[in-house]
Amino acid sequence: MSDSDLRWLYRDEAPRAPEGRFLLEDLIEGSGPIELDIGFGRGLSLFERAAAAPESRLIGIEVKTKLAYKVNERLQKHQLLNVAILCGDAREILKRAEPGRSVQRVALHFPDPWWKKRHDKRRVIGEALLAELHRLMRPGGELFIQTDVEHRAEQYLAQLRETAGFTLASHSGYVEANPFDARSNREKRAIEDGLPVWRILATRDRSA
Ligand SMILES: C[S@@+](CC[C@H](N)C(=O)[O-])C[C@H]1O[C@@H](n2cnc3c(N)ncnc32)[C@H](O)[C@@H]1O
Repeated sequence: MSDSDLRWLYRDEAPRAPEGRFLLEDLIEGSGPIELDIGFGRGLSLFERAAAAPESRLIGIEVKTKLAYKVNERLQKHQLLNVAILCGDAREILKRAEPGRSVQRVALHFPDPWWKKRHDKRRVIGEALLAELHRLMRPGGELFIQTDVEHRAEQYLAQLRETAGFTLASHSGYVEANPFDARSNREKRAIEDGLPVWRILATRDRSA
């Protein structure tokens, strides 16, 4: 296939969220906890999480059509039925997702790789996403963010401290280890290269 044919294939065949408002629980059969992996990239975190928590229903959201298509293809090949892929901008998709208070865990592994000020609008973690996550997460649900960029980690901490309805799991805001037993591709590489990783864990308040 030519590059252009492949681009069309990825664009047309990458799995999408239903039109309009939709129910997260309709995406995967079962009754286990619902978890989101936002910006899963090449998808290692989905495969490792599916193995670590086979009872959970995992929903991966990725904006790049090629990655969404290819990871979905591999999931089907391995017959991993507790993972669903949605291709698109997580900020737009989650606005339409229902019901509120249904998501137990959310992971954002190494989001927002852009450096320049003019790229700020592309950053996925911001007021809009945190508001939707707060709406969708169950009281006591866990939000995990990790990055290899210290400056970004500090921005995320500041944003979480300003957002009502989330409590950081430690005084500093950081935790030592990834609590989800699922490394992402970028995390695996950072560990192999001995690079520092900043890991943030917050819980959604029970009262808010
Ligand atoms: C630096 S990569 C990290 C990939 C993977 N999580 C990892 O740790 O290896 C960031 C990923 O987030 C995706 N992404 C960026 N903005 C997004 C958005 N608004 N919605 C969904 N995915 C997004 C990118 O396409 C990219 O795959």
